[in-house]
Order: sequence, then structure tokens, then C-alpha cells
Amino acid sequence: MLIFKTIGELTDYLTVRGETDLGFVPTMGALHDGHGSLVRYSVTQHACTICSIYVNPAQFNDAKDYTAYPKTPERDLDFLKSWGCNLVLMPETTLDLSDIKPFNDFDNLNSILEAPDRPGHFEGVCKIVEYLLLSIKPIKAYFGKKDYQQIAVIRRLIEIRKLNVELIECPTCREPSGLAMSSRNRRLNAQGLILAAQIPKLILQAYSQVKQLGYTETERVIKQMCDNLNISLHYAEFRCQSNLNRVTIHTPISETIFLIACTIQGVRLIDNMTANEAIAK
Ligand code: PAJ
Repeated sequence: MLIFKTIGELTDYLTVRGETDLGFVPTMGALHDGHGSLVRYSVTQHACTICSIYVNPAQFNDAKDYTAYPKTPERDLDFLKSWGCNLVLMPETTLDLSDIKPFNDFDNLNSILEAPDRPGHFEGVCKIVEYLLLSIKPIKAYFGKKDYQQIAVIRRLIEIRKLNVELIECPTCREPSGLAMSSRNRRLNAQGLILAAQIPKLILQAYSQVKQLGYTETERVIKQMCDNLNISLHYAEFRCQSNLNRVTIHTPISETIFLIACTIQGVRLIDNMTANEAIAK
């Protein structure tokens, strides 16, 4: 496994090697098995898998959140090696993204769910993702469904900017407790982890009640349960899987996704399941 500290060194290497069958997994490091599933999947599909590790300041609206973001570079490299990754991009200095034209064509995606709580977040994600895709030119790029809205945003970015890459959506990896794996989980203590494990249970609860109660009443019940658990909730909503629009009474349950965001012990956590995923549990 080769490690590159600048994008120029990586792209020079790719040019000299004439490597074109590239799978790409962008990350912010503090890697866990969720990232591992993306890397391993890419490894089965491509002659060469590239992973980037870069905590992108442009996507953090909260400076404290940025500085508190966990950094475990040695461990990350050990993991990547064990997952079969071929090349790692690990920039040591802040990347200059000024050549990338800001992306603003989000449709409704930049005014719902995560967006109001994190101003500038998706603009920052689009900047780094477009920069990396244009530099590396992979055939396929792998993203996790845990960040469902991020996938919807990047899908739109790829379409509008006509980026020549296929986006591959990978399922959410979970801890044995059901909690979605996240680099942020390591900021929770034992009590926080127990509480956080309630999040996927609340989603399953929502799907077990929605047929009987309907969307609005189920959302109200889930909000009440969060209050009772002392979980500070940002949203808990059914949305249309295809475009993340609000559901109506006519939306079939099978076409919905339930998304949740909350803060536990000062850590913002998100999770979601589609109706099919919830039924399979
Ligand atoms: P990061 O949070 O490090 O996540 C990198 C990728 O891993 C994302 O596609 C994310 O959805 C996926 N991932 C995280 N937890 C997962 C889990 N439990 N199961 C499956 N996949 C999981 O997302 C980002 O970084 C950044 O916004 C980035 C796209 C790299 C741009 O900076």
C-alpha cells in the first residue's frame, strides 16, 4: 500500500502507471468497519482502490466540531492495509479548493433535514468531493447510506456537473447493539453509547407503528419517546426515499425512509432506515 501526502504525487503516479480501473473511497479518517465495508467492496470491483483521509474544514460550520474531530492516522493505515486498499491520499496541509466553482444547485436538498442545522455543510462536501473526483478520475466512488442526504446531494452534484463517475451506495454497518458505526461514537461514554443504541430501535419502532397510526402520529410518538429518554432530537421524519420530499397520506410506506438526528453528550448523531431495511430487521 502506497501513501501520498499531496494530490500531485498521487495523480503523477496514476499517470505513469496508466492505472484507470480505479475505485475511490473518500473519508475523513478515524476509520471503522463502516469505512471498511466501502473499501472492501471497492477492492472486489477494481484493480486499484484509493482511499482519501482528509478532515475537510470547508464542511464544518462549527469550529469546535472540526477541532474535536478524532484523528487516528496510524490505526487508519493499519486498517486500510488489512482491507486490501492499494493507495492512500493523506494530505498534510489544507487543500486549496478555490478552483472549484461553488455548487448551489441543490433543489430542496439544502433546506431540509441536516441542512438547516449545518449551514454551508453540503457546499463544503460538494467542494471537496468534486475536487477529489476531478483529480483522481475514478470509475466508481463509494459512499455509505448512513449519510443518506449526503448521497442524494452528491448524486445531484455528479449529474449537474456531469462528472464522469458512478456513485455506489453501500449499506450502513452497525455495532452489535444496532448503533450505526460512526467516528463520532468514540466521543460517547458508556452511558452515551447505551442511549445512542436506542436510535435504531426508535426507527424500527416507527416502522412497526406506522401502518396503524399513520405518518404524523407516528412521528409525534417517536418525538415523545425521545423526550422521555432525554434525547435532544433535531428531527425524526418519514420522507420519500427517491427525493427526500415530505410524505403525504398517499405515499406508500414501502417508498419511505425514516431519518433521525439527535445530540447525545454533545455529539450529533444521525441514522436512517428505508422501509425495506426496517422490515428485514
Ligand atoms: P466520513 O464521515 O469519514 O465517511 C466516509 C464514508 O463512509 C461516507 O460515504 C459515509 O457515509 C461512510 N460511512 C460512515 N459510517 C458508515 C457506516 N456505519 N456504514 C457504512 N458507511 C459508513 O462522509 C464523509 O466522511 C465526508 O463528508 C466526505 C464524503 C469524505 C467528504 O469530506
